[in-house]
Amino acid sequence: MRMDDLVALCKRRGFLYQSSEIYGGLNGFWDYGPLGVELKRNIREAWWQDMVTSHNELVAPPGAPGPYEMVGLDSTIIMHPQVWKCSGHYDLFHDYMVDCRESKKRYRYDQLQGRWVEAKGQRIFVATEAQGDEALKDTEHKALRYFNLRAKQASELHWDGPLVSLSTVSDFSQVLGPDAKALGTLTEPREFNLMFKTYIGALGGEESAAFLRPETAQGIFVNFKNVLDSTRVRVPFGIAQMGKSFRNEITPRNFTFRSREFEQMEIEFFCHPSTSRAWYEYWRKRRYQWYLDLGLPSERLRLRDHSPEELSHYSCGTADIEYAFPFLPPGEFGELEGIAHRGDFDLRSHMEGKLVRQGNEFVVERDGEGKPRYRGSGKDLTYFDEATRQRYIPHVIEPSAGADRAALAFLCEAYCEDMAPDENGVPTPRVVLKLHPRLAPIKAAVFPLVRKDGMPEIAREIYAALKPCFPVFYDEKGAVGRRYRRQDEAGTPFCITVDGQTLVDGTVTIRDRDTLRQWRVKKEDCADEIRRHLK
Ligand code: GAP
Repeated sequence: MRMDDLVALCKRRGFLYQSSEIYGGLNGFWDYGPLGVELKRNIREAWWQDMVTSHNELVAPPGAPGPYEMVGLDSTIIMHPQVWKCSGHYDLFHDYMVDCRESKKRYRYDQLQGRWVEAKGQRIFVATEAQGDEALKDTEHKALRYFNLRAKQASELHWDGPLVSLSTVSDFSQVLGPDAKALGTLTEPREFNLMFKTYIGALGGEESAAFLRPETAQGIFVNFKNVLDSTRVRVPFGIAQMGKSFRNEITPRNFTFRSREFEQMEIEFFCHPSTSRAWYEYWRKRRYQWYLDLGLPSERLRLRDHSPEELSHYSCGTADIEYAFPFLPPGEFGELEGIAHRGDFDLRSHMEGKLVRQGNEFVVERDGEGKPRYRGSGKDLTYFDEATRQRYIPHVIEPSAGADRAALAFLCEAYCEDMAPDENGVPTPRVVLKLHPRLAPIKAAVFPLVRKDGMPEIAREIYAALKPCFPVFYDEKGAVGRRYRRQDEAGTPFCITVDGQTLVDGTVTIRDRDTLRQWRVKKEDCADEIRRHLK
């Protein structure tokens, strides 16, 4: 599958548009069109339903250490600036970037790599943003251009070692930037905070500065006590929240994969420290299975444990659920969701103030005068267990998913080009989105075979009966084969057709998008029949 084909389909059929496109677009921002908005809603609803509303707190689900409760939350995007100071985002949520003085482009330092090459008595480092084989081709192409050589003179380039990160190069004077013609145009790496800043109220001074949240998680931690005090939930329990997050990513890329505005679906699961390891294991598997159940195949989906060097400073274990996105080189995977064991780091930070690691401990970070660098709320966020009479700070397991990344993965996996017979039975190429029926934007389309003989009237009746049950689409224009093709591209799993036989015996055909199987049901049974297949 070529990514360009999927991007074109998304635009053509109204899944995704570039934001503000009529003004030339805005890099890193995407709008969901009429079909896209339904797809993303379905993903969010599947997550909410599977994780929160249909969870039965009276029994332990398979693989869980015990029963647990789940509740939801919807906190604000802009919160008190102290939230981000204590969480560490204000000081630590940075990327390093380098600028090119010649091309005026900005790159993420950790994403630039390159190769040393020597020709015509000069040794230079050719930098690229590309990955894998593309990076090899790109660096060769740039080296040839720099040394003014033709492709057939490629043997005059003497490569010195494999592709290595730009961070291995200490002096940038011999570096050829990814979009530069001259050497030494890249600046030294500079830190760049990823939080979008804004100002509250009319005055606009630094005292009124605030941030758009870069994750939904902190809204859950700061409401931990509210939820405990206003409900009857008891540890172990989880608080789920989904909503927009904003990150001023330096290099948004790969369609919606890395956007500047995106939606997260996060759970903060609070448990006793002694059982936290078992809960972490449970959530890793539970979340991995969720993607499998919605149609991502295990060959392209993996659960990867972070190595000790990769772990965030607060985490005692993190695993990523990763999908083999087609824009990545073969064998590479991109993150869909992280499941982190965060210990008591977050609740402690919001009680005591910003924490830093000291040996194996976390302690409050202090300034030169010994005062906390960022003061916590001072509120008691401990938990008292009535049964054991024990007071403790719960540990947190955090499954943190992205709704847009999930939508992109489901679209990539669903995109398929195959051959299907047209109305004359001749095999013709078709593009089909084999989305899981739960995720499909439209569940069924209703067609009269022809626009006469009372067929449209019957089809409209069926359409009206289905409309209150699930999203359906009515179409009577053009040849029925073309109508099927349009629905295949939209990912509609079932098409219901009223034909000559309907007039005789009151049955209609139902066509399955993936198998192309057609079967007949009574016209009044359509809703039940489709509902049965939507699970
Ligand atoms: N609270 C933890 C947290 O936010 P993260 O790994 O930074 O962890 C969680 O983000 C998920 O949010 C990612 O796995 C991804 O699905 C999504 N996400 C993060 N940054 C994103 C971006 N720039 N564009 C789209 N999705 C993003």
